[in-house]
Amino acid sequence: MKTIVILGSTGSIGTNTLDIVNRFPADFRVTGLTAGSNDEVLEEQIRRFKPRVVALSSEAAAAKLRRRCADFPVEVLSGQDGLAQVASLSEAELVVSAIVGGAGLVPTLAAIRSGKHIALANKEPMVMAGKLMQEEARRHGVKIFPVDSEHSAIFQSLEGHRLEDVRRLILTASGGALWTLSKDQLQDVTPEQALQHPNWKMGAKITIDSATLMNKGLEVVEARWLFDIPESRIDVLIHRESIIHSLVEYEDRSMIAQLGLPDMRTPISYAMRYPERLPLDLPSLDLTEIGKLSFCKPDHDRFPCLRLGYESLRIGGTMPAAMNAANEIAVDAFLNGGIRFTAIADIIRSTMEAHQSCEVNTVEAALETDRWAREKAESLVVSLAR
Ligand SMILES: NC(=O)c1ccc[n+]([C@@H]2O[C@H](COP(=O)([O-])OP(=O)(O)OC[C@H]3O[C@@H](n4cnc5c(N)ncnc54)[C@H](OP(=O)(O)O)[C@@H]3O)[C@@H](O)[C@H]2O)c1
Repeated sequence: MKTIVILGSTGSIGTNTLDIVNRFPADFRVTGLTAGSNDEVLEEQIRRFKPRVVALSSEAAAAKLRRRCADFPVEVLSGQDGLAQVASLSEAELVVSAIVGGAGLVPTLAAIRSGKHIALANKEPMVMAGKLMQEEARRHGVKIFPVDSEHSAIFQSLEGHRLEDVRRLILTASGGALWTLSKDQLQDVTPEQALQHPNWKMGAKITIDSATLMNKGLEVVEARWLFDIPESRIDVLIHRESIIHSLVEYEDRSMIAQLGLPDMRTPISYAMRYPERLPLDLPSLDLTEIGKLSFCKPDHDRFPCLRLGYESLRIGGTMPAAMNAANEIAVDAFLNGGIRFTAIADIIRSTMEAHQSCEVNTVEAALETDRWAREKAESLVVSLAR
């Protein structure tokens, strides 16, 4: 029986994680849950999974939740401190990090610093402060298990092999909702169109990141820190069907890949129960039914965000954090109808051009860059408003 905390329990990864807990009640016990402001869904989860402590980042939503759960034995905390406290609950062994965006950095670091193993879905903290997170994980004897399907595939393809024999990592990308559109057509894309991901049902932010290919840019940075490999040895391959989740090429030119139907419960459960594999009652991949798999190179002209991901790593220091913050602001503005789809890349690029990168030796350095880049990107949103 593993005692777990889920940060971001009301989201797409969070609810898939609880689905696994529900299917394997003898394997997991939930002691802490957190969300942003969704007190209604969190209340349902409290009554169903009986955590000892929960937290909402919104103070107002936490006050509502305390009233709703007055009849129930649960402690309701709030704000950044509340999230960090739930992330460090003494009885927890594993923290599933599934908040969206940079808001997950402080609670995920709190979990690492209190010695919890991490099942990491929330990629943005790795982008903001990957080197620091890995140093802290080493210092506290913490293992970080990837949840992102691509990184889980690489993690699985590396097992039993020597890192020094790896030639390159190959991250696959579906290409997102807009892969077939021309540059001109991309100008007029609506949020509804960009949210129609062909293979995965995910939260809104990552679905837009998939459509711009920024998700792959963020994943290149995540892979660099998770697997300690330079960006020059990380490649991206467009694979529309999302069946091969990623590959590792070795020095003898063997390639090892992990395949499966797109369902996040597979990588989530692997990260939660490593090295065991839980008997998930899901449809099997039938390759005869699929027939063909297709591959092509990324198109950096129509989708410039992937290249920005590589560039942020080449510059290093706080540049990935600046890129991440600008992306969060730009995606939000696009979803709210404030800017065109194509302005997302422009805002990220201009923010990066204006940023003076420095070392990320402390979490404060990453957070300071995050604040600066958000302000800069917000001013760009105003100037590019439709
Ligand atoms: N979804 C996927 O299949 C998938 C796959 C690979 C990686 N990931 C990564 O996993 C992370 C979560 O993605 P998702 O798709 O599950 O996102 P999501 O559905 O939008 O859920 C986000 C979760 O974070 C909470 N949250 C939002 N803002 C917060 C804040 N300021 N403070 C504290 N909590 C906050 C939300 O709470 P409320 O409900 O209260 O807003 C919700 O519980 C992302 O980093 C994403 O890139 C996701």
